[in-house]
Amino acid sequence: MSRTIYVNGSYQPYDQATLHVEDRATLFSDSVYEVVEIKNGNLIDQQDHLDRLARSLNEISLTPDFSLNTIPFIIRESVRRNRVRNGMVYIQVSRGVAKRDFIFPNPDMTPATLIIFARSSNFIAKEVQASKGIKVITMPDIRWKRPDIKTTGLLASVLARQTAKGQGAAEAWLYDENGFITEGAASNAWIINEQDELITHPATTAILKGITREGVMRAAKQLQLTYIERPFTIEEAKQAKEAFITAATNLVMPVTHIDGDPLNNGQSGAVSLRLRHIFHEFAQLTK
Ligand code: PDD
Repeated sequence: MSRTIYVNGSYQPYDQATLHVEDRATLFSDSVYEVVEIKNGNLIDQQDHLDRLARSLNEISLTPDFSLNTIPFIIRESVRRNRVRNGMVYIQVSRGVAKRDFIFPNPDMTPATLIIFARSSNFIAKEVQASKGIKVITMPDIRWKRPDIKTTGLLASVLARQTAKGQGAAEAWLYDENGFITEGAASNAWIINEQDELITHPATTAILKGITREGVMRAAKQLQLTYIERPFTIEEAKQAKEAFITAATNLVMPVTHIDGDPLNNGQSGAVSLRLRHIFHEFAQLTK
């Protein structure tokens, strides 16, 4: 089966799906995106992701010439054409193609660029990884000051993840100038204390307000677990009973080591795994 990618109105063969050189996404990262999980053919919390896409567009003053209401149809068609049962769908909107200029192009003459692709992922491999847990390292948060907007300006995150990989870790936890962990390079960061309270950074402009993060909060309420939105330091994290990360691509992924120091004897924590396994019960599923 050949894969296709939606680019501005048509489904193009994977090898031929391209953006113009002067697309604002390539020159300026003048673009925002979303990643939605697909589980058993269902889109997980799709509406929340589309709401956040609308917010990101609004924050960068980009009003597309198409209705965002068309996106669920294209997502559905992309999933169907690419026969994805478990995986993810990626949605990106840029300010379109225009002669390179820092000033916005005239929106009436410059249609936004919409790309959407759906991709399968190895569901079993993720479960195996979750049972083993992942290692994280800590690094200074050198990103711009608005990571709450889901833009494609991800170079600092790419470099952080690559550094983590070089040190045998799967994620980098980023810390601010006061030593507080903000979030991961591409995930939200959580710790669990001895009282089984979940702690994560508040949804300020310093982090992306994750949709999976919200789902974990819903699940925690059902399990009668307390969650607290407050910053925590690297030291507090290293003393935690458990830790985990959340993202649409990872769900709840237990953390076993921070900078090489083991948590929970280097094993995935029971509360983290419980949250992972019940997560979908509290998610909104779209066929
Ligand atoms: N990233 N924080 C950052 C910086 C992220 O990039 C992500 C997700 C999250 C978690 O958000 P959500 O739970 O809505 O996926 C937090 C996606 C998965 C990515 O860029 O691939």
